[in-house]
Amino acid sequence: MLKDTFNRVHDYLRISLTDSCNFRCQYCMPEENIQCMPSSKLMSSQEIDHLSSVFVSLGVKKIRLTGGEPLVRKEFAEIAQRLAKYPVKLTLTTNGVLADKFLPVFKDTGIKSVNVSLDTLKPDVFYAMTRRNQFNKVWQNIMLLIEQGFHVKINVVAMEGVVENEILDFVALTQDLPVHVRFIEFMPFEGNRWVSNKVVTATQMLKLVRESYQIQKLSDDINDTAKKYVVPGHKGTFAFITTMSEHFCGTCNRLRLTADGKIKNCLFGKEEIDLLSVLRNGGDVEPFIFKSVQRKYAVMGGQFEHGYKQTTATELENRSMIRIGG
Ligand code: 5AD
Ligand code: SF4
Repeated sequence: MLKDTFNRVHDYLRISLTDSCNFRCQYCMPEENIQCMPSSKLMSSQEIDHLSSVFVSLGVKKIRLTGGEPLVRKEFAEIAQRLAKYPVKLTLTTNGVLADKFLPVFKDTGIKSVNVSLDTLKPDVFYAMTRRNQFNKVWQNIMLLIEQGFHVKINVVAMEGVVENEILDFVALTQDLPVHVRFIEFMPFEGNRWVSNKVVTATQMLKLVRESYQIQKLSDDINDTAKKYVVPGHKGTFAFITTMSEHFCGTCNRLRLTADGKIKNCLFGKEEIDLLSVLRNGGDVEPFIFKSVQRKYAVMGGQFEHGYKQTTATELENRSMIRIGG
């Protein structure tokens, strides 16, 4: 069991398959042209399989594949197939644009729940945010996933100037669609121009929703990062991921593997341990996994000691989101 010094059991692993992406979201990618990792640095399918088997033997029960965009990794199908043999809930976070091509793979590998990132319902705003003209494709794919019976969550990064205009449209979607919309407070990562006053908090968003809807709080599961709500009678739900205004570190069960095989014990942690090099040198990775878990800080990787309002992005030491993997 992977228990840290605060008695938190870690049974959820998020594996980044690549740091490439076919979109260019500003909040995720640094402005400067970053070099993608060379493929020799990426964990191979076999190495992902091997590392996953170790994590599963240590009690991991859920694996999420992330990126960059996981579906641009050319071995995606092979990797999912390899992981399908483990007794874990296998899930995926994607920008959705290639989802239709992979439906058979999802079905084959027992992926039943898919998180799709979509920050706006307006094609022109979508273009401005992602630098890609793919709103319609993403939307069609969300509809396709729902039709095909997948549990679909839509991740909306709450960008100031956008979310205020669109939050009611997103909530309206839940009326007839069994879709779960999650508004994520804007988080700071390397090169994403975060400043604290650009954070639109869940409290601010809830106020906007309550002006138009009677809403009901739903109960949340212990390790949930999202605080869930429903408009009574609606088929879907909506939720807030309050990373900045109200962290949920106390029940954190998450570990991360970057595409180049480094374990990160926290999204905001600066410490990484290079499991892939240990593996490639013929070593045993298990003690290094324990070491990483033991070093986990109580809250936010030990980096927001004064709360987010007092934080500036430049004082934080971390990778960009695209290189961490959601
Ligand atoms: N702040 C909040 N959420 C972010 N994501 C990516 N970058 C940020 C950020 N700076 C979201 C993506 C994806 C999820 C894994 O994290 O949109 O849905
Ligand atoms: Fe790609 Fe997702 Fe990052 Fe956008 S947020 S650039 S879709 S990985």
